[in-house]
Amino acid sequence: MSESETHEPEAKTAPIDELPAAVVQGRRPMIAGNWKMNAGGTDGCDLALAIARIAADHDETEVVVAPPYTAIAAVANELYNKKSDVAVAAQNVFYEESGAFTGEVSPSMLRIAGATWAIIGHSERRQLFGETDENVLKKVVAANAGGLKCIVCVGETLDQREAGQTLQVIERQVSAFAAELAKSGGDGVVAYEPVWAIGTGKVASPEDAQEIHAAIRGMLALVDGEFAEQTRILYGGSVKANNAEGLLSQKDIDGALVGGAALEADGFGKIIAMAAKLVRQGKPQ
Ligand code: PGA
Repeated sequence: MSESETHEPEAKTAPIDELPAAVVQGRRPMIAGNWKMNAGGTDGCDLALAIARIAADHDETEVVVAPPYTAIAAVANELYNKKSDVAVAAQNVFYEESGAFTGEVSPSMLRIAGATWAIIGHSERRQLFGETDENVLKKVVAANAGGLKCIVCVGETLDQREAGQTLQVIERQVSAFAAELAKSGGDGVVAYEPVWAIGTGKVASPEDAQEIHAAIRGMLALVDGEFAEQTRILYGGSVKANNAEGLLSQKDIDGALVGGAALEADGFGKIIAMAAKLVRQGKPQ
């Protein structure tokens, strides 16, 4: 695809006066699908279009899909052509703008391909690819500079949880990037993903997750109170259509980052619909 065929979309958040009143007053829920290393070709376009059809009926929910790098431009073009509000995220981003960094992709390249979001610091990046809190900070800085909005992931491992270190670990991870994330106002998103819940079918109880989310909001408030109130905190880790309601009903759970269940449009669509329904029912924000 030549560069002239690409487009660099504006941020896809709808103008505030087009959103339902309940959303304007609070945090618009976000349901984001992390496709991981799946659906990287035309299958990604088909999946995105099926999701877009469902999302069109649920404006209350902001929907994001994160295909592998290879499918970002194609998926973004399909969504653009269908005038869909579903936004595209990259699953990762590098912190330099250009140069001799074999295999890496910069924020501006992702913007040109049509992504408006980047997932940063996912636990698989931290665990399998050695990403540190320092890398995460550099990536948030680069994303801010390059006009990409961030979904920054935090979460404890099973060992850390069993050792009673959950809040300590999360505090270390959040404090590494919170001040930088605050520079994008309320646009940044934090995802709490307990590592033991990712891809395991084990999901945190809604009450446990709410407790951690409230603690994370408190950590963000140390930087700025308004920023903490505006910032959406997503839960991730084995979210499915059948457990979404309990989680999304919680006061400080503002959406979900979904892995396995994001690869099937109907199930993912049910999570989108649930988030929208809770807004219409006036979920306290
Ligand atoms: P999962 O993945 O929904 O398959 O547990 C979540 C994630 O890793 O973001």
